[in-house]
Amino acid sequence: MSTMSEIIIAPSILSADFARLGEEVEHVLEAGADWVHFDVMDNHYVPNLTIGPMVCKSLREHGIEAFIDVHLMIEPVDALAADFATAGASLISFHPEASNHVHRSIHAIKDAGCQVGLVLNPATNVNVLDSVLEDIDLVLIMSVNPGFGGQSFIHSSLEKIAAVRSLIDQSGRSIRLEVDGGINKDTIAAAAQAGADTFVAGSAIFNSENYAETISQFREKTA
Ligand code: DX5
Ligand code: ZN
Repeated sequence: MSTMSEIIIAPSILSADFARLGEEVEHVLEAGADWVHFDVMDNHYVPNLTIGPMVCKSLREHGIEAFIDVHLMIEPVDALAADFATAGASLISFHPEASNHVHRSIHAIKDAGCQVGLVLNPATNVNVLDSVLEDIDLVLIMSVNPGFGGQSFIHSSLEKIAAVRSLIDQSGRSIRLEVDGGINKDTIAAAAQAGADTFVAGSAIFNSENYAETISQFREKTA
């Protein structure tokens, strides 16, 4: 039995114009995006620095009601995850390498009222999911090393997507399978064929002339 579900397109605001973030988010949602992918980097777990819970709260106060998919690339995880739950995050994903107690972090996020995801880097083995797949709502497969937008898709991630798709199907639970990094009109179809159902794209959407056209091209290629 396959648990494949509807396709979700989640533009990463890492490539948006931060000076006009509220408008950019409105614009991309009007263009047909489903989720807002919110990349949080701490210059410690990854060598870059971005935005924190105050910016998530500002988007909510600006009137953004869409699903906010927070991708934490930070170490440690728990305190800021709690702040993001308070700031209006819908789902919070973290990298297991960044938490000493992965099961505890998962349940703290759920207890705070958010959905929870685990993120696998290109060199992270899928066996990190063994004891916790039952507890999570989403697996995020990184198809680049985390830290920067605009990198090239790492093709070996397709095998990992397929492996996790089969674990999810075996579990019988509706767990989303998200892919993040180097997704564009040339790579999205292969990721969908391997079993991803949720697609993050930063530069391919925000550097395009017409967000709506790019998002609809993505949908055609995942159909
Ligand atoms: C990378 C981030 C991604 C990034 C994707 O660490 O997690 O979400 O913004 O950017 P593109 O789509 O440009 O590869
Ligand atoms: Zn991301």
